[in-house]
Amino acid sequence: MSFPKDFVWGAAAASYQIEGGATADGRGDSVWDMLCRKPGAIWSGQTGAEACDHFHRYAEDVAIMKEIGLKAYRLSISWPRVLPEGVGTVNAKGLEFYDRLIDTLLGAGIEPWVTLFHWDFPTALYHRGGWLNRDSADWFAEYARVVCDRLSDRVSHWMTHNEPQCFIGLGLSAGVHAPGDKLGFREVLLAGHHAMLAHGKAVQVLRARAKQPLQIGYAPVGSPFYPATESEADIAAARAAAFRVHERGHWNNTWWMDPVYLGRYPDDGLALFGADAPQPKPGDMETIRQPLDFFGTNMYSGACVRSGADGNPEVVPQPVGHKLTAFRWTVTPEILRWMPRFFHERYGLPIVITENGMSGADWISLDGKVHDPQRIDFLQRYLRELRQACADGVPVKGYFQWSILDNFEWAEGYKERFGLVYVDYPTQRRIPKDSAHWYRDVIASNGAKL
Ligand code: GCO
Repeated sequence: MSFPKDFVWGAAAASYQIEGGATADGRGDSVWDMLCRKPGAIWSGQTGAEACDHFHRYAEDVAIMKEIGLKAYRLSISWPRVLPEGVGTVNAKGLEFYDRLIDTLLGAGIEPWVTLFHWDFPTALYHRGGWLNRDSADWFAEYARVVCDRLSDRVSHWMTHNEPQCFIGLGLSAGVHAPGDKLGFREVLLAGHHAMLAHGKAVQVLRARAKQPLQIGYAPVGSPFYPATESEADIAAARAAAFRVHERGHWNNTWWMDPVYLGRYPDDGLALFGADAPQPKPGDMETIRQPLDFFGTNMYSGACVRSGADGNPEVVPQPVGHKLTAFRWTVTPEILRWMPRFFHERYGLPIVITENGMSGADWISLDGKVHDPQRIDFLQRYLRELRQACADGVPVKGYFQWSILDNFEWAEGYKERFGLVYVDYPTQRRIPKDSAHWYRDVIASNGAKL
């Protein structure tokens, strides 16, 4: 059994996590550069200043992607590389880097899927209030216009934001991600509202100015759930758990997805958040709810749910000694069968898994290779479940493995290795891991070889 014809087999990365070149060719400062300067913020004081030096080594990296046989590569654009102050003067050399990268990808027969915002917010705009300033929606629209005008003749697949739950929740509430603030809940939700407004305005810009037909999506992180059994009761319980706002916090699906796809905040969230909920201005929800072409989501690990005695969802604890990745994330492949179904039922769009993968304790073995049997087993389990979703009739269009390269894992620095390709940071040498060769065969067989 294989995946649908024309299934998009990809891999993903993000500008701040792999590019380096933090001040090269006029790049401006981002809030992640700012956070990396804060003592104690990042594991072992590491920074993204050099990262994987993709800024200089992109051609080598694209050649490896071609060897693996990727059909598509999900990259993000560094906002301050293109607009050093966030708005106003465009950095021509910054745009030229993305010209080179996109042209190299297309030359290798790899479709670029571009994420406009994967967390590297311009520091200059942070000092003007950041996402808390309602003007941020217009700043983001201006950035989208500059990138669209330059690249939309060659880029036809776009995502606006990557994981607002993280860049708003971890960046402005928990304070563990950039910019490292700990705002009050009302301010966090207001910043989130502005970020979703920015999403809507960017989609309007892309629709109005793109130089070719395009597909636009959004890449929130999924809070996944899956049923303990295939009984209708347990499936209903897992679905209910997936679409409820169960706490005063940012880790949920619907608060970040319903406005974008349905044009309204979820009632349970509004009830729970009360006076802290944003007060949308006239037209806000219409702006946020722009028609999209696919439902993208990043998913890694989820919770098992059964129908409780009272019929309410009940989380089933994992058994003692259950599988864990090096990052201590639980291995729950079933989420890639059930969440695509639940999301498609609710939002009615084709599904793209914009991120999935695992951190492994990977190193170069004495034979000079990097053996990562756990990643192969992980991917085999998850992809078999995704294939089952396809067999269940869910329109799944693509899958992007996180990540093509080991890279800067935010506050964890470089200690988490998610790549199909090992990066020896002191030398910047790339070594495709066993999983890269395995993934090549999976792609070549369109998943039949799982
Ligand atoms: C995220 C981000 C990625 C992470 C990856 C592993 O989902 O947090 O999109 O940048 O590196 O998910 O945590």
